[in-house]
Amino acid sequence: MRDVALVAAGMTNFDYRINKRAEELVSEALLDALESTKGLVLDDIDTLVTSYFIDARQVAEEWIIQDYLGHRPKAAFRVENGGGSGASALYAACSLIKSGLSETVLLAGWEKMSLYRSRMANELIARGLDIDFDFDVGAIYTACYGMMAVRHMYLYGEREEDFARIAVKNRNNALKNPKGQWKKRITVDDVLESRLIAYPLKVLDCSLISDGAAVLILSSRERAKEITDDPVFVEGLGIATDTMRLGDRVEIENFPACRSASRKAYRMAGVENPVSEIDCAEIYDSFDTVELQSYEDLGFTDKGKGVQFIEEAEIGGRLPVNMSGGLEGMGHPIGASPVAEVAEIFWQLRGESCNQVDGAARGLVHSHGGVGTAVFVGIFGR
Ligand SMILES: CC(C)(COP(=O)(O)OP(=O)(O)OC[C@H]1O[C@@H](n2cnc3c(N)ncnc32)[C@H](O)[C@@H]1OP(=O)(O)O)[C@@H](O)C(=O)NCCC(=O)NCCS
Repeated sequence: MRDVALVAAGMTNFDYRINKRAEELVSEALLDALESTKGLVLDDIDTLVTSYFIDARQVAEEWIIQDYLGHRPKAAFRVENGGGSGASALYAACSLIKSGLSETVLLAGWEKMSLYRSRMANELIARGLDIDFDFDVGAIYTACYGMMAVRHMYLYGEREEDFARIAVKNRNNALKNPKGQWKKRITVDDVLESRLIAYPLKVLDCSLISDGAAVLILSSRERAKEITDDPVFVEGLGIATDTMRLGDRVEIENFPACRSASRKAYRMAGVENPVSEIDCAEIYDSFDTVELQSYEDLGFTDKGKGVQFIEEAEIGGRLPVNMSGGLEGMGHPIGASPVAEVAEIFWQLRGESCNQVDGAARGLVHSHGGVGTAVFVGIFGR
């Protein structure tokens, strides 16, 4: 199978972009990406793979995007996999290039969450639970993720302060990210004193509601040389799944699907010891509790020892995590978020990040669909 190269990345600011339509956001991100190439134009791209989570009004919003970009009559389709849509779209884009079906692929992810008040946004997100079982008993994502964190706290003794340290790290990292949504320096006390949402989650433990778009351009290794002098390569990919309903899981304190996905990706990339072989990571911190649980599932530390890894995840630590600010700081327009996570790793490995990790040569991206129902892990290298 052929090697896959990331040759360009672009994104919009993540924020409430109320006056911008989805197609305008995608074109803004696309222009950002094309600018960094050796003159690549849209005509050079043979396939468009798209990802968004939900639009309660419009079906097949991807058709508006392909039309607006002028991509006709070339191949285009949407990949939908909950919050992991962008990551699954990347998986599909890589498969196209590996198999030889496509030579150059544009992956575009977006979301317009400001269309809804956060109450409605939460209801739409919760439709990613089983609407005939979980939904009817009041299970929304904040409640589910809160419950999973409580189980972890019961077994391993973390305190709310521990999770708050992750929120502080990520939101303060975002201050250096000009495209990030969060603009205010915070402390652990700010997190602890913020409004309770679903114990132990307070507002500042939760990811933001955002609008935005992010794109990646991928090609074969051979084609990459014509597009950029500085490609990044996809070294490993893994997706794994778990039960739809949380109540059907034997283990709710951690994410078994993350363990399976990461081991697949590590095997493919030849990674034996992630902490010494990976230089930086973007972890799907839809809630800061997930980041701590994922340190364990990704094998950065042993189960129950996530707290001890928090300082290693600071910039300057052994494996910095969420340099971009993550979903809590950079923002979380759902269909765009995993694409933006990969973009951050792309910029890190090219030495172009606004929050650069010195000498970063290999990076990891982690992303969730559902409540850890589909988990993606990707490894990228120079
Ligand atoms: C945490 C959450 C429920 C708060 O929503 P809410 O209580 O309805 O808050 P509102 O939208 O009414 O906003 C009230 C204030 O809180 C702020 N706020 C809302 N969510 C915030 C967050 N996550 N972090 C920081 N501030 C937040 C708003 O900016 C607003 O500030 P202002 O009064 O200064 O303008 C919402 O942000 C949320 O659901 N986040 C998680 C999203 C999610 O689940 N994504 C998918 C995960 S896979």
